[in-house]
Amino acid sequence: MYWTHQMCIRTRRLQPICPIDGRFGPHGQDEIPLRALQFKRGLLHEFRKGNATKEQIRLHNLVQQLPKAIIIGVRKGGTRALLEMLNLHPAVVKASQEIHFFDNDENYAKGIEWYRKKMPFSYPHQITIEKSPAYFITEEVPERIYKMNSSIKLLIIVREPTTRAISDYTQVLEGKERKNKTYYKFEKLAIDPTTCEVNTKYKAVRTSIYTKHLERWLKYFPIEQFHIVDGDRLITEPLPELQLVEKFLNLPPRISQYNLYFNATRGFYCLRFNIVFNKCLAGSKGRIHPEVDPSVITKLRKFFHPFNQKFYQITGRTFNWP
Ligand code: A3P
Repeated sequence: MYWTHQMCIRTRRLQPICPIDGRFGPHGQDEIPLRALQFKRGLLHEFRKGNATKEQIRLHNLVQQLPKAIIIGVRKGGTRALLEMLNLHPAVVKASQEIHFFDNDENYAKGIEWYRKKMPFSYPHQITIEKSPAYFITEEVPERIYKMNSSIKLLIIVREPTTRAISDYTQVLEGKERKNKTYYKFEKLAIDPTTCEVNTKYKAVRTSIYTKHLERWLKYFPIEQFHIVDGDRLITEPLPELQLVEKFLNLPPRISQYNLYFNATRGFYCLRFNIVFNKCLAGSKGRIHPEVDPSVITKLRKFFHPFNQKFYQITGRTFNWP
């Protein structure tokens, strides 16, 4: 069900417009403070879209804060699902759009105030989170983020590298099809036809070499500032993954099973904010992948294997990737 203007007005009348009491409120561990969530879906929802008057900003002490945590990648790892699910937490406010401040030179040249103004309105005790998956693979980004805040928390959501590469391909393929453009089969892009080896020039392959990118980040940030989310598990069993993130962000546990329900039609978990508001991710999340030649999959998995081992070693998180 969607939040209607009518409901918004009703909430404005009945609901005292005030911040969540204290920093996190006196709520039980498995219970979401309903009032906070209703508020989140009501007036604050409008504020987030930038629809706050000067009077409202002053009255509610609203601010546009630089992010305290950024989901830096990985593209097709489940970055949108992670952001939306974290946004269930009453102390988290998401930047809805990918801002591409640090990876886009033109945006970066506009300065940090431009970036801050792109952030949603929030209460001072809340934390803002943004996600731009291009950050993970873009050379200049770690240094730029470090210059903004050297103690920022960085979230990386990863999936089994070959599946991620195919998901990446599927997204690009869909875009090409929409524009009636021709496109090669995945096999042709992922394997160099002259050498028959994995084509490391292909972006979807390069992005899945997680350790290479992470090593660049580690020149600026210690490993303790990163948290690795298992994107495959976020699909099948989101709650434990979200609880690990809550811990990493020093947030009290507020996201519960109540907030996540499996939608059989969609084939994914969807989000329940409260009794009236729930939503699934857009249809562009969870595409059907094209069938890929099994020998190519085997080749890719063998190729990624040593990089994966290194990634486990650096991050201290092991995945059962083949
Ligand atoms: P596929 O489309 O390959 O299935 P991103 O947001 O980084 O682009 O990641 C997209 C991926 O998020 C999807 O990849 C999908 O599998 C995954 N995902 C994880 N949880 C999801 C959820 N609850 N609803 C929809 N997609 C989800």
